[in-house]
Amino acid sequence: MTTITPWEVKGNVDYDKLIKEFGVSRIDDALIKRLERHSKNLHCLVRRKIFFAHRDLDFILDQYEKGNEFFLYTGRAPSGNTHIGHLIPWMLTKWLQDVFDVELWFQFPDEEKFLFRDDLTLEETEKYTYENMLDVIALGFKPGKTFFLIDTKHAGIMYKEALKVSKKITFSTVKSSFGFTNEQNIGAIFYTAMQAVPSFLPSVLHKKKMPCLIPHAIDQDPHFRVTRDVISKIGYYKPASIQCRFLPGLGGMDSDGKMSSSSGDNATIFTTDDAKTVKSKINKYAFSGGQATLEEHRKLGGNPDIDVSYIWLTFLEEDDRKLEEIYEAYRKGRMLSGELKALLIEKLNSFLAKHQQSREKARKNIDKFIFKV
Ligand code: TRP
Repeated sequence: MTTITPWEVKGNVDYDKLIKEFGVSRIDDALIKRLERHSKNLHCLVRRKIFFAHRDLDFILDQYEKGNEFFLYTGRAPSGNTHIGHLIPWMLTKWLQDVFDVELWFQFPDEEKFLFRDDLTLEETEKYTYENMLDVIALGFKPGKTFFLIDTKHAGIMYKEALKVSKKITFSTVKSSFGFTNEQNIGAIFYTAMQAVPSFLPSVLHKKKMPCLIPHAIDQDPHFRVTRDVISKIGYYKPASIQCRFLPGLGGMDSDGKMSSSSGDNATIFTTDDAKTVKSKINKYAFSGGQATLEEHRKLGGNPDIDVSYIWLTFLEEDDRKLEEIYEAYRKGRMLSGELKALLIEKLNSFLAKHQQSREKARKNIDKFIFKV
């Protein structure tokens, strides 16, 4: 069985079915062309349709082309260290900020995982908020144009807006949108109102109606479906969104649709893992599409489409030509599983070496990013 909610992703994800079920639109070639007009160098996550769906992205471009500036909004509910899967939507967000030179509002709802899980205290989520902020800053977002909102710290400005949202959402809407039962705690029932707030808070603060674009992994869509219904009733633009697939866990596609840090440290590469750990995790745990023996592999070739190392490279290797060559060499049996893994290890470790350096530097810059009321 496949389950996809903002709190749980299990099973094989059928993205075509999701498009229908969620009612999002596919990002088609025409829309990609339109993005290309604004940036000659399309991000590989767009080119490869890893960002595969959207709501109202055309509206955002219409507005932008008319000179009505939009802002970006995304977020992370602190619950543990950041892993590579978390970075995917943030990488695209960074690219969008560079291309359109717009503000980014980044939410850290430090109450979310506290409310939805039994094993986290607010003190722990606070610690992870700090750790997660380092990863966001390390990606290179623009200081002065990037604003962190931490729910418990910015409650003074956020709560008032959340109230306006919450008054328009009934318990039965939340139940059907998120699959809640009567046993759900009332903090969790209210939570979606807090996640709605950053999609219009900049309009409140700048005292003008601004369009909002939210890059996020597809599991967050139920929140923004609710937000979109409510928000026009309180006088703001419905937020637009652009949605990506999940980076699979190392164990492969069907055991784990989304790379989750709760399904064990071995299914995951954390941004703080050292080079040795990365090497041994990939070698030990990355699901291989190769054949059982060397002879068979040379004769029959591997299957890159189910090979986690290859799939990870489609998220991380920017060079299309190189990726194609790997695909062919592996499929024809010229490249072995170990060689493919070595390419991924090298890619991850060179990325992480830089990332970890920027992450350390970020410690002294946190204050520049936290929104000052
Ligand atoms: N609910 C998200 C999580 O579990 C955090 C989040 C808050 C978010 N606002 C967002 C994610 C906007 C994407 C876009 O991590």
